[in-house]
Parts: sequence; C-alpha cells; structure tokens
Amino acid sequence: MEVIIHPTAEDVAARAADICCDALNKNPALVLGLATGSTPLALYAQLIRRHQAGQVSFRGVTSFNLDEYVGLPPSHPQSYRHYMHTHLFSQVDIDPARTHVPDGMLENPMDAGPAYEAAIRAAGGIDLQVLGIGANGHIGFNEPTSALHSRTRVKTLAEKTVTDNSRFFQPGEFQPRLAITMGIGTILEARRIVLLATGDGKAEAVANMVEGSVSAMCPASALQFHVKTTVICDRAAASRLRMRDYYQFVLAQQDALTARFGLR
Ligand code: GLP
Repeated sequence: MEVIIHPTAEDVAARAADICCDALNKNPALVLGLATGSTPLALYAQLIRRHQAGQVSFRGVTSFNLDEYVGLPPSHPQSYRHYMHTHLFSQVDIDPARTHVPDGMLENPMDAGPAYEAAIRAAGGIDLQVLGIGANGHIGFNEPTSALHSRTRVKTLAEKTVTDNSRFFQPGEFQPRLAITMGIGTILEARRIVLLATGDGKAEAVANMVEGSVSAMCPASALQFHVKTTVICDRAAASRLRMRDYYQFVLAQQDALTARFGLR
C-alpha cells in the first residue's frame, strides 16, 4: 500500500483529484468506481471545479458506485443515487445512462448483486475505484466480519454505522438497516484504488487497515492484498500510524520520480 499524508483534508482532496484527472485524461473511457459519505465531497467539488475550468471531461466515463440503501428511492435525499446526482453527476458532463448505483428498490433486493456484478463485467471492470473508510474499518458497506472474497450483495449495517450515519437523517425518519454493496472481492478487482481518510475519527481504522493484520474484523485491511492501492489521509487520520516517517520518505522519493517521469 502506498500511504500519502497531507496536512489538511483539502490537500487530500486535491491529491485525489490529481490522480482522478490524470487517469481520466489518459483514458477518457475510464470506468470509475465512486464512493459516498462526507469524505469524498471535497474531491467531487475539486473535480467539478477542474471540469468547469476545462481541465477534465467525463463524457466517455462509465461509473459504478459502491453501494446503496435498500428501500430508499433515487428521489430520497439520503439515497446514494441522489447524493451522486447532487454532488457530481449534475455538475459534470457525464452521460447519466452510463452512471450506475445499485438498485435499492428491487422487489427482491437479493437480485441486485448479480445484476451489478454483470454490469461491471460488461463494462470491462473498474479502472479506478475511489473509497472512503468507516470508523469501524468498513469499505462500501462491507461491515466487520464480511467475507474478504465477498461479491455485491445485501448487507445488514452494523450498529456503529447506523449511528455514524444517523446525522444525515431527520429525527424519527426511516433509516435503512440494509444496503446493497459491492463485495470486498469486487473492490479488490479494481485495477487501481484510491482511499481517502480524514479526521481523527478514522485514525484507528486507518492504522488497522495499513499496519494491522489482515482480518475480516477490519474489512479495509483486505486492501493489503491489492497491488495498486493509494491511501491518502490528513494528519489527523494518520495520527495512529507507526511508520509515518517511512511513508513520508517513500513519498519524497516518488515525488522526485514523478517530477522526472510524470504520474503513474
Ligand atoms: C458510508 C459509506 C462508505 C463511506 C463511509 C464513511 O457508510 N457506505 O462508503 O466510506 O460511510 O463515510 P464518511 O466519509 O462520511 O465518514
């Protein structure tokens, strides 16, 4: 895993935007995996700004979101389809027909997973997957004890996740306990992964993911098996990493190589 530590959350977003824009400019038909939550909002704001400045286009992009709540229609303000429309899709030139979010409204939600896997396969697989991380180490909605080879399926949310995400719902409003999420195995098939983590609430999860044992108790630790994962975090989220100095040293070497040969 490559670990990049920046002073602020805004720097994290800018670095992630650099990676996304570079990938989009190299491959205008990129298959992009997208995440929700509060962390990627600053990244999406950067991408919109760069799009408006004519630096990047999404015209040829196909996108796949990680997850969706079961029982929330796309029109619901807390549905992830609604989030993506508001915070990215409606503000860039992406073709709405090529944006995919798991369908949380199927009569049998168990049908959503296989259909989603088939759509990802038909698109040629995900080139670049953006991820956040839950405070309990989840990625997508793969909660602790999720199988490390799992595929897109219905997951029951952990109490911690329900509590963490309750800030987005009105008191007394229906908050789903079930979600459809890409599996950990699905995520691991992405050719490149960029995971963003900001704030001290993520420090323990980041330490477990990067420096802990691979364990279903920290689903993000499965990323240790992935050959091209970049973790970008701010100082607060990195505060419990033991090898911070080493990561900074590696980064200085890589920045020197990038200055000479360009981004990889
Ligand atoms: C949700 C999403 C995850 C996201 C996580 C963290 O549970 N399913 O994809 O990474 O929340 O969200 P936040 O960035 O708001 O802390």
